[in-house]
Parts: sequence; structure tokens; C-alpha cells
Amino acid sequence: MNFEPNNLLITGGAGFIGTNFVRHWLARRGAGKVLVYDALTYAGNIDNLAGLDANSRYSFVRGDICDEAKVRELLTAHAIDTVVHFAAESHVDRSILGPDDFIRTNIVGTHALLKAAKSVWLDATLSRGHRFHHVSTDEVYGSLNPTDPPFHEATPYAPNSPYSASKAGSDHLVRAYHETYGLNTTITNCSNNYGPYHFPEKLIPLIIINILSGKPLPIYGDGLQVRDWLHVADHCVAIELAVTRGESGEVYNVGGNSETPNIEIVHRLCSLADEHFAADTILRATFPNSPGATGRPAAELITHVSDRPGHDRRYAIDYRKAQLALGYAPARDLAAGLRTTFDWYLTNTGWWQALLGRDYKAWVEKNYRR
Ligand code: NAD
Ligand code: TYD
Repeated sequence: MNFEPNNLLITGGAGFIGTNFVRHWLARRGAGKVLVYDALTYAGNIDNLAGLDANSRYSFVRGDICDEAKVRELLTAHAIDTVVHFAAESHVDRSILGPDDFIRTNIVGTHALLKAAKSVWLDATLSRGHRFHHVSTDEVYGSLNPTDPPFHEATPYAPNSPYSASKAGSDHLVRAYHETYGLNTTITNCSNNYGPYHFPEKLIPLIIINILSGKPLPIYGDGLQVRDWLHVADHCVAIELAVTRGESGEVYNVGGNSETPNIEIVHRLCSLADEHFAADTILRATFPNSPGATGRPAAELITHVSDRPGHDRRYAIDYRKAQLALGYAPARDLAAGLRTTFDWYLTNTGWWQALLGRDYKAWVEKNYRR
């Protein structure tokens, strides 16, 4: 049965995927309000939402998803009928160095949101149509061998990092609130996203920025770990479909049809950089430390570093359920997606240069010099 959302609370809407989703939703839907609720941690960036203040359907509240009373108040005051839950600690390397924040935000925080939603939507006398959509990851399924079939919705959970374990915990809580209390929920488990506004501690933006800055391109281990890459715009379409057409209580895997070893992703980005630098004198002047500025190949920056502990070898997604039930299919292929993403980082240098001055810089310098 189709669900027609009216007013959305989007948690984590100032992060990478949340930002893209807020923009997608406001552009796609002609009515209904969008309230972004975000704690603005190191990964949240209010600049991502620049320009939206002019839209009377958009508003922003800074706050923590662990604050159940605050969430309850917002759900009531803004007549929210749909939560789209992105807020999380999302970086595997950080979860290895310090798991506590992951347990707090991803498990305790998701539970606080569920309690608030139950209290306002189910326990109050006036019950109304509602949907709690939880954005999760393929990493909950663990790691595949080269010839294993891709993850499907019934693949047993086997998370290997504190990050994926905390996301697995949150998925189970969402399921339990549906089964036990009848909360209308949907979950999407997707593969590695890439695209605009991607925080530069993750592989693709880190590599682009390090190429431009002439810094080493760190490859963990042999670089033959395989990820399925999903353009964030395709992910946003999938979430919209899951929220509006998904069955309550169901889980949908979302993939990008783009299984690729990390080292190949890095080589592709290096080739894009070489192409740009060869053709563009202004680029050569703007980024004088990049190898391309003096006609050298970006790939000379590739540096193999020690592997991530517990590093999952391969992720792959079987998204046939979402295709059949929701009409989902990824529309962007990897070559085109990487090209437009590279161009976005070239056009939006101010966006990422502003981030380099924040906590990110100290963290990267501490943890990537191996
Ligand atoms: P991100 O790290 O870029 O953004 C997370 C956002 O959540 C930030 O704006 C941050 O300020 C906010 N946040 C963190 N803790 C909070 C708290 N306690 N209260 C309120 N807000 C808080 O993450 P992302 O890459 O945009 O990922 C969004 C969601 O998608 C996450 O749940 C993640 O697990 C999931 N996911 C991401 C990917 C990916 O490739 N990026 C893949 C699969 C699933
Ligand atoms: P990442 O972007 O951190 O996403 P995830 O760990 O959620 O998949 O990493 C993607 C892949 O790239 C992963 O196999 C780890 C690898 N990687 C590197 O080799 N070097 C790096 O500097 C980073 C950040 C990641």
C-alpha cells in the first residue's frame, strides 16, 4: 500500500547522504515540510544546506537523537508523520579507534528515536498514518568471498567492525519496534555511497583531495578489497521509493551494480586527474603541488599502508527485491558517476578547503601517517 508522507523529520540531514536527500526531497515533492535534526558533529556541516533557508518548507534544529524528549516535542510541534533516519557515526576507521560514540549514537540514539516515535504516533490517543525509515548499510552482513553470491535481505547478519555491529544493533531495534509495537517501519541496507558533499575522510573524496594537494594516496593492504559503489542520487531515489511504496516491516537492499576493487577506484580517479591537468592550465596553477601540475601522473602518489584491522574483503548487493517491489534500479554507471563527482570537487574547492581546517585535519594527520 502506498504511503503519502506529509511532514518529514530528517535526522543527520547535514551529513553526506542526508544533505543529498533533503535537496532531493524538496525538489521532488511539491508539498509538505522538511525539518532537519542534526547534532552537527565533525561530520555534520550546516554549509551543506546553504540556500535552503529561502524555502519556507525547510527548517533546521540542532540537537542530539539521544534526546528523546526533544524529539518527542518536535514530532508533536511540527506534526511530523515521517522520520527518515540518517544520523549516525559512520566511519569504520573511527569506530576501530573509539567505538563508544558509535554505540551511543547508532544504538542508544536510534532507540531514543524509536521510543519518541512510538510515544507520539502509537501511544497518544490520536493515532495517524506514519512511517519510520531507517537508513542502514550492507556492512551488517559481513564479508563475502570472491565467488559468494551477493548479500540479499535474508543473508545472516555477521558484522565485523564496531561500526557495522552498531548499525546491526539499530536494525534489530527497528525490526523489534515493528514486530512488538506495530510501528510502521522500513529499512534500506545500501552499499558504499559516493557523490557531492561526501566528507573527505572516506575513500573517494580523500583520494580526489589528496591528488589535488599532492599528498600520498593511502591504500590499505593490497587494495584488492571490493566494494559496490552507489551514486548518492540513486540512493536518494531508493529511499523515496522505500518510504512511499515500501511495505511496513520490510527491508530492502539497495545497490549500484558497480563492484570494484579499491585500487581500481584509485587508478580511475588518477586517470581523471591526469586528463584534467593535461587540458587545463588554470588547474595546473591552482594546484601546483599536484603531480599533474608538472606533467607527472597522479598515480605516483599511491602508497600502500598497513591494512585496516578486521577489513571486510568484499561487499556486493542483490537488489532484486527493491527492483521488483519498488521499481528501483540504479541509473548512474560508475564511470560517469566518478567523472561528475571529480568535477564537483573541482568546482567546490571552497567547500572542502573549509573542512580541512577543522577537526578533520588533525584527525587525518594523526591516523593516516602509518
Ligand atoms: P555522515 O557521517 O556524513 O553524516 C552523519 C550525520 O549525522 C552528520 O550530519 C552528523 O552531524 C549527524 N549526527 C551524528 N551523530 C548525531 C547525533 N547523536 N544526533 C544527531 N545527529 C547526529 O554519514 P553519511 O555517510 O551521510 O551516512 C548517513 C547514514 O547512511 C548513516 O546512518 C550510515 O550508517 C548510512 N550509510 C552510509 C553509507 C555511506 O557510504 N556513506 C553506506 C551505507 C549506509
Ligand atoms: P571507506 O570510504 O572508509 O568506506 P567503508 O569502510 O565503509 O567501506 O573505505 C572504502 C574502502 O577503501 C575500504 O575497503 C577501505 C579502503 N580505504 C583505503 O584503502 N584507504 C583509505 O584512505 C580509506 C579512507 C579507505
